[in-house]
Amino acid sequence: MIFIVKYHCLQEGRLPGVETSVVETTVESWSKVENQLESVDAVLLISMAHHVHPADRKALFQKLMTRYLSCGGLVVILDYNTSVPCRYHLLMERFGVRWSNYDVIESEMVEAGFRVVYQTDVEIHYDYSNPSAGLVKFVQLIVGRDFSEVEVRAAIDDIYDQPDVCLKKLTIFTK
Ligand SMILES: C[S@@+](CC[C@H](N)C(=O)[O-])C[C@H]1O[C@@H](n2cnc3c(N)ncnc32)[C@H](O)[C@@H]1O
Repeated sequence: MIFIVKYHCLQEGRLPGVETSVVETTVESWSKVENQLESVDAVLLISMAHHVHPADRKALFQKLMTRYLSCGGLVVILDYNTSVPCRYHLLMERFGVRWSNYDVIESEMVEAGFRVVYQTDVEIHYDYSNPSAGLVKFVQLIVGRDFSEVEVRAAIDDIYDQPDVCLKKLTIFTK
């Protein structure tokens, strides 16, 4: 899903003059809504970029660089550092989900012409013991509808025998 927020300034904790529009689409079929977009000041790719095929991701980064991100605009990316294994990666591997490590995503951004202005490690604590129906559905959405809720719940029960910590990188890029 892609959210587009065009903002002007923050005053007294509020965003006067905020213009927002929400477009539900995918990176791959974004071209259908591209003509509705103007330039934007910030792009947030939160735990999302690793889902996208590298060729489509590179095309997205090129478009952000050359067309959509305003001068001085920011791209914020939060994604998995898979060089430090965690149970969430095992869960995704169980369902054949392929993804790119954060380092690959960063190198694609740099290749597109972006530079890093801020970076930090983020620890994500997962407790999937006794998962709610909503959590099972969320995982099912991520791994694909080919797998039933029963299969997803069984895999979670099998893999999450104790709480887990995953590492992510949070990076802010600019042009
Ligand atoms: C792990 S969820 C993260 C959701 C949310 N950003 C968060 O942090 O809670 C991954 C998100 O990536 C989106 N996504 C996956 N593939 C995508 C694609 N090809 N284009 C756009 N969005 C995609 C999914 O719809 C889902 O919302």
